[in-house]
Amino acid sequence: MQRTIDWDDSGGGAVVIIDQCALPGTYRTLRLSTPEELVGAIRRLAVRGAPALGAAGALGVVLAARVHGGDRGAVHADAERIAAARPTAVNLRRGVERALAALPEGPEAVLAQALAMLDEDARVNREASRHAADLLLREVGRRPLRLLTHCNTGRLAAVEWGTALGVVWHLHADGQVEYVLADETRPLLQGSRLTAWELAEAGVRYRVLPDSAAASALARGLVDAVVVGADRIAANGDVANKVGTYPLALAAAHHGIPFVVVAPSSTVDTALPDGTAIVIEERAADEVTCVAGVPVSPDGAEVFNPAFDVTPVDLVTAVVTEDGVLAGRAR
Ligand code: MRU
Repeated sequence: MQRTIDWDDSGGGAVVIIDQCALPGTYRTLRLSTPEELVGAIRRLAVRGAPALGAAGALGVVLAARVHGGDRGAVHADAERIAAARPTAVNLRRGVERALAALPEGPEAVLAQALAMLDEDARVNREASRHAADLLLREVGRRPLRLLTHCNTGRLAAVEWGTALGVVWHLHADGQVEYVLADETRPLLQGSRLTAWELAEAGVRYRVLPDSAAASALARGLVDAVVVGADRIAANGDVANKVGTYPLALAAAHHGIPFVVVAPSSTVDTALPDGTAIVIEERAADEVTCVAGVPVSPDGAEVFNPAFDVTPVDLVTAVVTEDGVLAGRAR
């Protein structure tokens, strides 16, 4: 299966991504040959999701090292532009830093480091999602499970195996998924465009719902557990994830429904004691005021468009990484 993000050494070398702006209508890949092209793809979310951004950061340094040869200052300047392209997902800067650490050994060492990170991402997400699947099988009595998720946390958000959707793949293989409710995830619709596409591809029964219907789905007893990913997890277990995650956690806590966060340990930022210090990316107003290019708000409408929110750890049943349960009530 084509990786979401990979390296192609032919023709001077390029980062190859599945173009997530084109899905679900068109499946195509893009070749990105310069750091500028990569930064553009990151900003418009052609490549997105915290683990995939980590890979993008590392491969971006490979591109910069090839473009600038021995000019280390220029490589570092490009690396900073890549790391700053999106501020919330800690994996992006971490991927850049890990690849940069190999720069003194030369461009081939940077490539080897980046490729090792891609393989590591595939492995740890499988492990983290297996731990979370086992936890859900312990926490939930009903079989098969009815799950609700938010945003896209599948292979498209990682290198080849997702986090929260990775849980679905494990449980589906075990015959333990009745259906998945996929929040559409306003305003950029990662749920209805990407998660629904992945669930259909995997043959998992699903329904897309407006984000605003999620709490009523929980209230009506349609959901056994909520499972989501993360963009940055503070040392105390507070979780930054796609905007709309926090209200889901509130509703899940109110209804006594397990709320499980799955992420690789590379998403944990121990430098931040709690979630209050997490920088939340604000995105362009027209993502909210236009739908499919058509204006849906009065001209000049002011907009609040944070891409992420922070869920306090006391609302979380478990934060699960490849190392097991890191935080939350189930710890
Ligand atoms: O803005 P996005 O699409 O990059 O946001 C992605 C999310 O919020 C995901 O839930 C998160 O990165 C975890 S992906 C395994």
